Amino acid sequence: MSKHPQFSVPDQSGVLAVVTGANSGIGLEVTRRLAGAGAEVVLAVRNAEKGRQAVERILVDHPAATLSVETLDLSDLGSISAFADRMTQQARAIDLLINNAGIMAVPARHTTVDGFELQFGTNFLGHFALTARLLPSLVAAPNPRVVTLSSGAASMGTIKLDNLNSERSYQAWRAYAQSKLADLMFAIELDRRSREYCWGVMSTASHPGVTRTNLQTTGPRLGKPNPRIDISRWVMKLPGMTQDPDAGALPTLYAATSPEAQGGRYYGPDGFGQMTGGPTTVSGPRRAHDAATAQGLWDTAERLTGVGFPTGPIENLSGTNAVGS
Ligand SMILES: NC(=O)c1ccc[n+]([C@@H]2O[C@H](COP(=O)([O-])OP(=O)(O)OC[C@H]3O[C@@H](n4cnc5c(N)ncnc54)[C@H](OP(=O)(O)O)[C@@H]3O)[C@@H](O)[C@H]2O)c1
Repeated sequence: MSKHPQFSVPDQSGVLAVVTGANSGIGLEVTRRLAGAGAEVVLAVRNAEKGRQAVERILVDHPAATLSVETLDLSDLGSISAFADRMTQQARAIDLLINNAGIMAVPARHTTVDGFELQFGTNFLGHFALTARLLPSLVAAPNPRVVTLSSGAASMGTIKLDNLNSERSYQAWRAYAQSKLADLMFAIELDRRSREYCWGVMSTASHPGVTRTNLQTTGPRLGKPNPRIDISRWVMKLPGMTQDPDAGALPTLYAATSPEAQGGRYYGPDGFGQMTGGPTTVSGPRRAHDAATAQGLWDTAERLTGVGFPTGPIENLSGTNAVGS
């Protein structure tokens, strides 16, 4: 357990939440806590069997929880579109979208189904397209929120608009850091646009410090056996510098449910180096607030994914937002 004060999730009765990557790590814990507070949660996962196992685990703690599993592969625009269509067909307002799924430090350049570099494509472009597709359902909720997971690694990232997909050069951590800076900039820009166009969607970013999950092994395993995986496992055992998912989920839960959370803000742990601790507002790198880069990133994401956000108020729940349609 965290030695820091636990944030207590307020009553979530009547809330419909979608959590990406809900079967593991932060996403599993966020789902467990939201469900425990009364929210109905859709576990949006790429592996349905893993999703069902997560549901079984949560039901042990919360037998009355309302949970469902939906297949969503964020490295496949077709899967994102199909997931969003299934959600939209239900004609239900979505109160909470947690853009959590992620992959880190893939040793060699891999690509998504649509040809994007795997980390940029999954962590950022996938969630960008998903949020745009779900926007009408979010806008239909009384107080909708979107929380997008960034990382302390965003501070090491730069947005290279002419090499977003690492086609000219690939470095595993650089690509991860860029994808997480993009996530942070997306969260801030989404909130700005929501205010400008009166969507009523509160968008925030969060990061979990250094949390012991599968993140440190899933990405590296895409490559050949690599000594860096062992180093990362060793670092994750250092006392006081890492935390369990119950603590790592707190900044995200705070951003998602606290009455005090504010749009455009970034939440992370309050301990040394933001590695562990209770949720607090963190600043993130200054370049995350660069308006010109945010605009360029947004425009490029719309062009690459073929999915656009409206540039005005949204009237109702119908339709998707394909660019040019
Ligand atoms: N753990 C940390 O210290 C840390 C630090 C900073 C930021 N973060 C961020 O926190 C978020 C959650 O990571 P975690 O630490 O909880 O890692 P995790 O335990 O590995 O969970 C990642 C989740 O993302 C899912 N995922 C990966 N690729 C996907 C895809 N193409 N489509 C759909 N889902 C996909 C995984 O599914 P599978 O189970 O099927 O692989 C898993 O459910 C990530 O965005 C990560 O960047 C974590």
